[in-house]
Amino acid sequence: MVGHQDQGRRILIKFGGNALSGEGDLERFAQDIASLIASGLRPVLVHGGGPEISQEMERRGLKVRKVSGLRVTDPAALEVAADVLGRINSDIVGTLGRAGVNAVGMSGCDAAVIASKMPSVKVTDEQGNDVSVDLDRVGDVARVDPERLEATISKGAVPVIYPICADPEGLQFNVNADTVAAHVARAAGAREMVLVTDVPGILKNGEVIRSITLSGIDALIADGTITGGMVPKVDACRTALMNGVGTVYMLNGKDPHSLVRKLLRGEDTGTRITVG
Ligand SMILES: Nc1ncnc2c1ncn2[C@@H]1O[C@H](COP(=O)(O)OP(=O)(O)OP(=O)(O)O)[C@@H](O)[C@H]1O
Ligand SMILES: [Mg+2]
Repeated sequence: MVGHQDQGRRILIKFGGNALSGEGDLERFAQDIASLIASGLRPVLVHGGGPEISQEMERRGLKVRKVSGLRVTDPAALEVAADVLGRINSDIVGTLGRAGVNAVGMSGCDAAVIASKMPSVKVTDEQGNDVSVDLDRVGDVARVDPERLEATISKGAVPVIYPICADPEGLQFNVNADTVAAHVARAAGAREMVLVTDVPGILKNGEVIRSITLSGIDALIADGTITGGMVPKVDACRTALMNGVGTVYMLNGKDPHSLVRKLLRGEDTGTRITVG
């Protein structure tokens, strides 16, 4: 049960585009956030929007290409990503407001998440040759200046951040939302990070892995069990755990009230990731 040790417990919660796309998913999620706050937790939210960005790109006749789970983003794709993520952010902030949560929507730029251009990614092409792919306007996180986040959190408000970030010159980049989450977790002083996605956790042969360490994850990348969007996700787990976050959980957003069940009732659901 919740005790006074939960008062002020900061927690980073990241959720993906597919996780809350079903009927009533977002409303249930907002109720869970309200319950966490009522129990004394201080959530900080980061969201993605991968499927919606892909749909909108296709609608505008743009080609979707992903390398190592990251979207190759030319300036036209960046514009789509910023539009779509900004719209999703407004929806989320509105739904949270109706659930009684004082939410403040912000981009990574607003939240002082400073980007740097992602180096080219080495991949093997269909002919088996090693090639290097420039992801264009895809960023990594250089650092987060915590003052803006702190100003929001200390007012008792919940930052809701979408992952369009700028470098120190103001050039904008699309950053994977899991990556932003890991860096924001550290800047906000969160001891726990929860990645809410559209699968029940890290899967191996169709089964959920209940608990895993970073070296266990290395083995699953090496043997090809972890692919696609799960690659930046486990990289983000590593970043968070190496930077002072104690535990990362991966939960299924399709599983009703999994956040409350995990964080307030301690139920054994999803995957728990620790340093080892
Ligand atoms: N071993 C694995 N276990 C579970 N999922 C895996 C695994 N390997 C690859 N995946 C894929 O990773 C996906 C989750 O990452 P994805 O980037 O698609 O979603 P997200 O990060 O929750 O959302 P967004 O990118 O919109 O923020 C799963 O839907 C699944 O297809
Ligand atoms: Mg993703």
